[in-house]
Amino acid sequence: MGAIYDKMYKESLSDPEKFWAEAATKVHWYHQWDKVLDVVNGHYRWFVGGCMNTCYNALDLHVDNGRGDQAALIYDSPVTDTKKTYTYAQLRDRVAKTAGILVNKGVVKGDRVVIYMPMIPEAVIAMLACARIGAIHSVVFGGFAAHELATRIDDAKPKVIMSASCGIEVSRVIHYKPLLDEAIKRSTHKPTCCIIHQRPQEIANMLPWRDVDWAEEEEKTAAVDCVPLDAIDPLYILYTSGTTGKPKGVIRSNGGHAVAMKWSMDNVYNAKAGDVFWAASDVGWVVGHSYIVYAPLMNGCTTIVYEGKPVRTPNPGAFWRVCEEHKVNILFSAPTAFRAIRKEDPNGEWVKKYDLSSVKGLFVAGERCDSPTLEWMKKVTGKEVTDHWWQTETGWAIAANPMGLDPMKVKPGSPTKPMPGFNLQALDADGKQCKPGVLGNLVLKLPLPPSCLMGVWEDDARYKRSYLDFYPGYYLTGDSGYIDKDGYVWVMGRMDGVINVAGHRLSTGEMEEIVAKHPDVAECAVIGVDDALKGEVPMGFAVLKEGIERDNQSLCEGIVQLVRDEIGAVASFRIVTIVSRLPKTRSGKILRGTMRSMADGKEWNMPSTIEDEDVLPEIQEAIKALGYPKKKEEA
Ligand code: COA
Ligand code: AMP
Repeated sequence: MGAIYDKMYKESLSDPEKFWAEAATKVHWYHQWDKVLDVVNGHYRWFVGGCMNTCYNALDLHVDNGRGDQAALIYDSPVTDTKKTYTYAQLRDRVAKTAGILVNKGVVKGDRVVIYMPMIPEAVIAMLACARIGAIHSVVFGGFAAHELATRIDDAKPKVIMSASCGIEVSRVIHYKPLLDEAIKRSTHKPTCCIIHQRPQEIANMLPWRDVDWAEEEEKTAAVDCVPLDAIDPLYILYTSGTTGKPKGVIRSNGGHAVAMKWSMDNVYNAKAGDVFWAASDVGWVVGHSYIVYAPLMNGCTTIVYEGKPVRTPNPGAFWRVCEEHKVNILFSAPTAFRAIRKEDPNGEWVKKYDLSSVKGLFVAGERCDSPTLEWMKKVTGKEVTDHWWQTETGWAIAANPMGLDPMKVKPGSPTKPMPGFNLQALDADGKQCKPGVLGNLVLKLPLPPSCLMGVWEDDARYKRSYLDFYPGYYLTGDSGYIDKDGYVWVMGRMDGVINVAGHRLSTGEMEEIVAKHPDVAECAVIGVDDALKGEVPMGFAVLKEGIERDNQSLCEGIVQLVRDEIGAVASFRIVTIVSRLPKTRSGKILRGTMRSMADGKEWNMPSTIEDEDVLPEIQEAIKALGYPKKKEEA
């Protein structure tokens, strides 16, 4: 156990070009690369001169190789009581016609297309249609509100937006089209056309000069072929939260991404062509991009698009029902989903009702997987559970247990070891390597392996500032953690203002910017606090402007509503309190770390740099009044 991994890992670091050139033979290329790796001004480019098409690798290749009648995509929607299967040939045909619509609307290679969709097949079709013609898609998670969508529209400047009339959250209809209209009203950049999928649950009002009906257009449009693209042409931009309010547009290239996706399917997930691969996530997140759409399809698997929740749609047996019904081989979700199931079904009674014999393994990522959840999953399902650590920027696992290559002993709480090409180290504040077991900043020595970000969209300075400048020669993951004496990785939390709410990456800095917009708020702080179900939830502290005398409860309700309206319900911003001052250092930095320790019931000391010692007792009282720290059994 581990010897094959050790050899492979060493080879990937000593000669990355050889390692990835070999992996790249699993991808279909119209023309092979001239150079495996090129570095230009801090940017790493894989497979330079290579020519390929991601959509061809995901669809046409399988049809050409005789897999046309195999199920490519199963749509399972408990919220609309719908199930539908698309074969590879059927999916290819719909994608090719949808690509034709884009071409007719003037979209050419390099143009951006924003996709704002619920979890329906059309979301996948839209992404692949863009990939087919070399348009760069930027999917915006459907749970984000108009303000977030507008920010992304202004940054990506899409020629076209693809959306749906509505989404369904359990039984609540989410009015996508009005949200889209509002976002376009707010944005400075305007798309020339919106392609709208009308769902029977709600027919949206259309603007005749801008909006077109997707189904009507598809009916009358001819299919178009895949366009050969450079390996280093961008496939997509995916926005992710950072320290500031403005999300970062992570750019992913076509070639490197395809190579890493293929490698990970074989070696991390042990997924074979014909397997049913279910990533119970959302296409709006990187997990959805990589493992609902691209990797399973490139690997000839059947992917599942699930429009539902782990619980309440209609019960905590939902995941197991899908596994039995569609003979799922690999199930991947966030720990929070399993915590939600466990909460409602602690003894695994719902699991017993279903046949899980098809399931080879379970995978979790998106946030730290606590040992009790991992042990519970193993116990009730009798399956191996693999925790793996990755981020939007990498597109695939930085650390994992390579189940298809050399499964290693599991240490609950650790995502096991770094994957090939990820030269992971823990560095202290001075840039020195930490000793085994000592907490530091988790960094990756450059170059990063294929699929990792090519840059930040139209903001090279931010790319360098956010990731490369901190430790020259290294990429900063933003996570803190350590590597133990056996080489296992332990990810302990973020160093920046990023919090992980139910597997969703959100910025407390952004929430602070929104709260500060409230007319009665002078200044504020938002921190993440531990939550038994969602991992973390935000907690806000607001200081009012001089002379404001209003009922605090209604003020807090107004602040909560503001965040919900601007970011979206997904922020789960429900806890806020009014305080007279915020604790600060003498240089004016808010002591968020101390506030968090107080709320989580951890030990804290009066910081020597504090400006005024009298502030902290008031903050502690305010936290207590909010019901924090939670008692052990609630936490
Ligand atoms: N569109 C619109 N609204 C959405 C949404 C979407 N796509 N996704 C979530 N929301 C809303 C929810 O309805 C909820 O609204 P509410 O405050 O009015 O109840 C709010 O955003 C918070 O959502 P969530 O954090 O998901 O909480 P929940 O209580 O609805 O569900 C879980 C809790 C654990 C069941 C759920 O978070 C889950 O399934 N998580 C899986 C995690 C995941 O997929 N992570 C992706 C990375 S792998
Ligand atoms: P995202 O970019 O949304 O995928 O979020 C990435 C962040 O989620 C990482 O930087 C980590 O902070 C956290 N994360 C993801 N997977 C894990 C994991 N397996 N263990 C611990 N943290 C994780």
